[in-house]
Amino acid sequence: MKFFVDTADVAEIKDLAASGLLDGVTTNPSLIMKAGRPMLDVIKEICAIVPGPVSAETVATDHKTMLAEGRKLAKLAKNVAVKVPLTPDGLKTCKALAAEGTMVNVTLCFSAAQALLAAKAGAAFISPFVGRLDDIGQDGMHLIAEIMTIYRQYPHFETEVLVASVRHSMHVVQAAKLGAHVATVPPNVLRQLFKHALTDNGLKAFLDDWAKTGQSIL
Ligand code: G3P
Repeated sequence: MKFFVDTADVAEIKDLAASGLLDGVTTNPSLIMKAGRPMLDVIKEICAIVPGPVSAETVATDHKTMLAEGRKLAKLAKNVAVKVPLTPDGLKTCKALAAEGTMVNVTLCFSAAQALLAAKAGAAFISPFVGRLDDIGQDGMHLIAEIMTIYRQYPHFETEVLVASVRHSMHVVQAAKLGAHVATVPPNVLRQLFKHALTDNGLKAFLDDWAKTGQSIL
């Protein structure tokens, strides 16, 4: 399973990339707003730090302008994945960009039917938002299970399921159990994945005992 980080904070990305566990990055207009920096500069910088796919989202709602935005974003670096919304214009743009060899991440997916359309439109990634479904009392993970079942019926689909709107480590574990290709995870959740109280306590006890032996390995 690939791990992407869901942030436009370059310092966070540098720090997490050093772990060697980062396969890509996703951004969106809200994350760019939070970063408080010009989008094009931020995307270029991120692309130079992380060699994997870096999602940069279009903001137009009509096909013509969205395509122009997508082409401009795709030119920033080879590893840009252009993000488009799951609308008729978004999917039309997805098809056109995919035909030009650009990776497209179709975002704001909330149903299996939408995911089916994105695969037909040649998306490199489909982004179902699990946390936002949980927030309204629906089961986000059930959607991932449905999409995985559907995509497995059609082995020629090349679209990867990118679990988005992840809120905690159980979302990541459940997504992995279902065989989802990618989870995009906020930095704090990515750090949560390393954590277990018994690991911390166990390490402390081992090191305390080791100190009592007076030995050193090196
Ligand atoms: O980038 C898309 C997605 O991960 C957004 O998550 O937390 O705003 O629902 P959230």
